[in-house]
Amino acid sequence: MSTNVNLFSPVKLGSLELPNRIVMAPLTRNRAAAGNVPTEMNATYYTQRASAGLIISEATQVSPQGQGYPNTPGIHSQEQVAGWRLVTDAVHAHGGRIFLQLWHVGRISHPSLQPGGELPVAPSAIAPEGDASTLEGPKPYVTPRALETAEIPGIVEDYRKGAENALAAGFDGVEIHSANGYLLDQFLQNGTNKRTDEYGGSIENRARLLMEVTEAVVGVWGGERVGVRLSPSGTFNSMSDSNPGALFSYVAAALNRFNLAYLHLVDPRTDNHNTVENHTQGFPVGYFRPIFNGTLITAGGYDLELGNAVLASGDADLVAYGRLYIANPDLPERFAANAALNKPDRDTFYGGDEKGYIDYPSLELQTA
Ligand code: PHB
Repeated sequence: MSTNVNLFSPVKLGSLELPNRIVMAPLTRNRAAAGNVPTEMNATYYTQRASAGLIISEATQVSPQGQGYPNTPGIHSQEQVAGWRLVTDAVHAHGGRIFLQLWHVGRISHPSLQPGGELPVAPSAIAPEGDASTLEGPKPYVTPRALETAEIPGIVEDYRKGAENALAAGFDGVEIHSANGYLLDQFLQNGTNKRTDEYGGSIENRARLLMEVTEAVVGVWGGERVGVRLSPSGTFNSMSDSNPGALFSYVAAALNRFNLAYLHLVDPRTDNHNTVENHTQGFPVGYFRPIFNGTLITAGGYDLELGNAVLASGDADLVAYGRLYIANPDLPERFAANAALNKPDRDTFYGGDEKGYIDYPSLELQTA
């Protein structure tokens, strides 16, 4: 189906009216202060990007156990709620809208980042390949501890509390991070989930935790203010499934009952922050159009032309930009003017200070 829609067509997202279809993708930047608390600098960063149709915050841990990298913000303490309030107030004062992304990393962590130096938790005791990012630099991932069945209600409760705290912090909604090899994705895919209880085995069982979390979060916000992110084609964080087409079709269909604001899909063109050269494998957003009854956001390596093309094709309703948003705070204005784009500097993606964070110039500054 071909449409007349482009990146500048307004759109309703749940109960929100968005002025354009350009979404700021969730981006880990590791610049929270002590206690994993957002700061005025973080508020400046998001405010510079307030002309996006929607901002989705960086992934934000719902509990201390949910943390897997240094200096990522949380949404489990009152100090964090107060820090995020700086961000939401500033974004709203500049006319923007912002969702918080709710995160638990599962096995993608390290004892040095865990409360009491304990092992990270996961559906099953299987270590990812590679190194964890710790405060003392890269260290090999450890074998995580498999969650007891009796601990799972506590995990659901952590997401529910995170959703409540996001409401208290003034967000416009929340996105449940079920992508990129973090806890909920670890439960979905059978390379990481070898459980024999009701959270493992069949596709329905493996999707149970995501459904319980979604139910809890929708109970706080209503479906119209909740999105879910999935990465059906990703292998980042040592992910695999024996039948991802069947798994993610089931998940997308099962989410229909929540009347969500949107389903957000990472495109096979990208795997985490790298563009995949040959992306003929995998599940592009259009695969989910006949399965999911609501709004679809697609993310991953889009530019102006590709973004407009995927909207015109009718396969997606909005397009999320990550790397381009790091470097171009006024991305919608630049797209509208067909202006040159600043190049993102990878060395300052993760951690550090204002450099590479709030010092990318707007077009206005550049041409003044
Ligand atoms: C990362 O910190 O590298 C990261 C975090 C969240 C994602 C992907 C990557 O979804």
